[in-house]
Amino acid sequence: MTKIAIVLGSIRDGRVSPQVGEWVKEIGNKRENVEFEIVDLKEFEMPLFYKRFSEYDGTEKEYENLKRLSEITQNVDGFVFITPEYNHGLTSVMKNYFDLFYAEFNNKAAGIVSYGSSMGARAGEQVRNILAELQVADVRQQVSLSLFADFEGFVNFKPLDIQEGGLETMLDQVVAWTDALAHLRK
Ligand SMILES: Cc1cc2nc3c(=O)[nH]c(=O)nc-3n(C[C@H](O)[C@H](O)[C@H](O)COP(=O)(O)O)c2cc1C
Repeated sequence: MTKIAIVLGSIRDGRVSPQVGEWVKEIGNKRENVEFEIVDLKEFEMPLFYKRFSEYDGTEKEYENLKRLSEITQNVDGFVFITPEYNHGLTSVMKNYFDLFYAEFNNKAAGIVSYGSSMGARAGEQVRNILAELQVADVRQQVSLSLFADFEGFVNFKPLDIQEGGLETMLDQVVAWTDALAHLRK
């Protein structure tokens, strides 16, 4: 069974990323032989990066949280990154996640769902740059959601009908590349 993590890229009170993640999960899990699961970065209370997890020497509680996140990241075959835009970039919690781990990401595929008033386009492009360094193959199709068009009152997620087709295409690409890279992960 191919496993894909849907990573929620925000942790603030009132965040909308869980609504977006659930949408991706529901549509993704209609596929056979693929399991989409939500990974909520808020659950792990990651310390701010000062060294990679593989060299981590901080508190035991933080170590246990990071170990759990390391194992989850290692055990999936691919990712969908739910990427809000903050100050024309990706969120700090996403960057922290990318910096803390490395081997756990390598030779996997990823898709990006971005959002913001400019559809999160700048944040999505930043994530693509980072994924190249982590040896993650990011697929072409990107789902870009507008706070004005796809959310009621900027907080209730009601995607335009057109978004679903784009999501299906993106998920198909992620699954295909995830499977194509499997032999490199052995
Ligand atoms: C600190 C901060 C900075 C933001 N900067 C931008 C921005 O530069 N461009 C944009 O389109 N939206 C920006 N927004 C709006 C967010 O994209 C919007 O609030 C979105 O819902 C955030 O995702 P979240 O609800 O999952 O936290 C910003 C929001 C916050 C909290």
